[in-house]
Amino acid sequence: MIEIAPSILSADFARLGDAVAQAESAGAERIHIDVMDGHFVPNISMGPVVVQALRPVTSLPLEAHLMIDNPDRYIDAFIDAGTDIVIVHQENVPHLHRVIQQIREKGKQAGVALNPGTPVHLLDSVFAELDIVLAMTVNPGFSGQKFIPSVIPKITEIRNRISAGNLDCDLEVDGGINDETGRKAVSAGANVLVAATAIFKHSGGIAAGIQSLRRQSEAKDILV
Ligand code: DX5
Ligand code: ZN
Repeated sequence: MIEIAPSILSADFARLGDAVAQAESAGAERIHIDVMDGHFVPNISMGPVVVQALRPVTSLPLEAHLMIDNPDRYIDAFIDAGTDIVIVHQENVPHLHRVIQQIREKGKQAGVALNPGTPVHLLDSVFAELDIVLAMTVNPGFSGQKFIPSVIPKITEIRNRISAGNLDCDLEVDGGINDETGRKAVSAGANVLVAATAIFKHSGGIAAGIQSLRRQSEAKDILV
């Protein structure tokens, strides 16, 4: 089954609780929270206080995508605020194994994200420890960017690794996901679709955005 993870980066921040409640009613499986520090990525977004504010609003898992330097310093704060899933980036974590253990020892799910330019083999020695691999399909920093099609073979490569190892690991894609690119990503092997613009800026509203993504990504006549 495909999971839809609305990224609140494109939600109406003045009505964030309502936006998340609507996403939950429309059948979203998790809420994706993009954390940016103005160093690892050029943009600044939100911190643990947002997780804390949303925790009572939804029973869905809250997923923090940490696009920040020194994520190990902030993991406990995000978990204490109510985060269920913590995703760090391979590119700026020298002690990746330790950070994954830090997350799992707290009983939370651990994920690692790969930028479009980062090869899959850099995860070789930690792959079996991961609950999630997130393939970035844009360069991180902003919502509303265009899907990078050259990431598609990498999605398949990650799916093959998960299958070959018989691993219990989600494969998420994040960036420029809409009805068309979501379908391509699922066809390549993704099982979790992160989307901000396609959901929170959908002309028919949040529920319509989620339903459309799900319908298209689960369509039988998949065209790549
Ligand atoms: C990008 C973030 C994404 C972003 C997705 O750095 O990690 O989660 O919010 O936005 P859209 O779906 O608009 O590309
Ligand atoms: Zn994200």
